[in-house]
Amino acid sequence: MKKSKTFVYKCSSCGKEEPKWLGRCPECGEWNTFAETLSASGSKKDINHNRKNPQFTVPLSAIDPMEGTRIGSGIDELDRVLGGGIMKSSSILIGGEPGIGKSTLLLQIAAAAQTKGRVLYISGEESAGQLRLRADRLDLNKDKAIMERIEILCSGNLNDIENVLNNIKPVLVLVDSAQTLYSEEASMHTAGTINQMKYCSHELITWAKEHDASVFITAHVTKEGIISGPKTLEHMVDTVLYFEQNDKTSGLNGTADCRFLRAVKNRFGAIDEIGIFTMGEKGLFPVADTGRMFLVRREGNLPPGVATAAVLEGSRTILVEIQALVIPAKGTISRVFSDKIDSGRVSRISAALEKHLGLHNKPGLRFSDQDLYVNAAGGIRITEVGVELALACALYSARTGIALPANTAIAGELSLTGEIRPVRRLSGRVKTAASLGFGSFLGPLPDQPEPGLQAAKDIKTAIGLIYGAVPNT
Ligand code: TYD
Ligand code: MG
Repeated sequence: MKKSKTFVYKCSSCGKEEPKWLGRCPECGEWNTFAETLSASGSKKDINHNRKNPQFTVPLSAIDPMEGTRIGSGIDELDRVLGGGIMKSSSILIGGEPGIGKSTLLLQIAAAAQTKGRVLYISGEESAGQLRLRADRLDLNKDKAIMERIEILCSGNLNDIENVLNNIKPVLVLVDSAQTLYSEEASMHTAGTINQMKYCSHELITWAKEHDASVFITAHVTKEGIISGPKTLEHMVDTVLYFEQNDKTSGLNGTADCRFLRAVKNRFGAIDEIGIFTMGEKGLFPVADTGRMFLVRREGNLPPGVATAAVLEGSRTILVEIQALVIPAKGTISRVFSDKIDSGRVSRISAALEKHLGLHNKPGLRFSDQDLYVNAAGGIRITEVGVELALACALYSARTGIALPANTAIAGELSLTGEIRPVRRLSGRVKTAASLGFGSFLGPLPDQPEPGLQAAKDIKTAIGLIYGAVPNT
């Protein structure tokens, strides 16, 4: 029998429609998700989701550049992570564990974003009354204009949401959360399933692109469910931000309870900036003094196993205490326990130390039969390569029991050959450290003379400069 023209094949994962069956969806990459379905084309949607003028192409020269089309979020720490503000027509995913502050951040954006257009807050998580309570807690009720401008829709039903979007044409849409969205059109009918989440999010992102609006979507991440949750939305959105929390270490110079907002994908900016907030009585606040917040407050000398790294987090220099503990291996192989610094990096640095200081010949000093524990004070995860020399010093200090002088900050990359490589913005790191009371700085050879810098070309020289000769044990 001849097939009716109103049938198409639709991806149950992302909603992509194709005129013929495909094994793999070209949009989301899922396999075996195409099923025959009634086409919405002609009536509601075009097959390719390219709904504006699918039959024409546009010369590049005729397209308006997107320059200058960012709006300030009104929250500096967020703008920093986004690369200078919220891009129009863009979609931003905010992932994080329950209770970390996603809904709070969304409401603060709704209140503070520098736009004159309409702002729609869609909540499938909380009732209108609960949202009002949160708004009152954040003191938004002190500003009548803000309370008027934020429009609330408490629903996860995609149909309802699309109707409202088309009615009020907001410029900023805040969706809390992806997991509460559902639509009869997607294959499974319960909210929260991956298909529902992907399909509905895709529809909302597409709506925003076509209407020059920006959309934020929150998504819960649970420790077990990181892959099945927001990860599957990452390819659809322009920017992916994750909220992380520190482990509330006490005794820090800075505040114990802070939240880090990191970009893991950003089509419109770098991904090395982090936003640092604390959660207070009245919502999320930027941390004023980030320079010292990852240092442990203590009097007098440092204990062995501790070194202060001057690392870059985006455009900021922060000083972080790196802590190492080295004990004889419990098993037959030596293991590394380190979640704040990549454990592969810890292994590599300990191997380079052992080799280039000749420790393999010294049973009391070698690393290869030891278990290594590494931590960063304040629970901040450090990925910047400039941490390596400080990590080497912390490990060496832990193994030898010789403490580092308290006023020394350290930066440098360590190569497998034992050389210390230059790091970006060395001069800025030295100056920041000096301004925070670190009179001495251990680092790579500088391009220009650098006051206060003890420069070393390789790890052996560096260790000699601050710890003296390697002991003979
Ligand atoms: P919430 O934004 O609801 O987190 P998420 O949406 O990520 O689940 O808020 C997280 C926690 O923060 C909650 O336990 C209450 C607390 N909180 C404050 O401490 N101060 C505040 O001003 C607000 C609004 C919340
Ligand atoms: Mg929430």
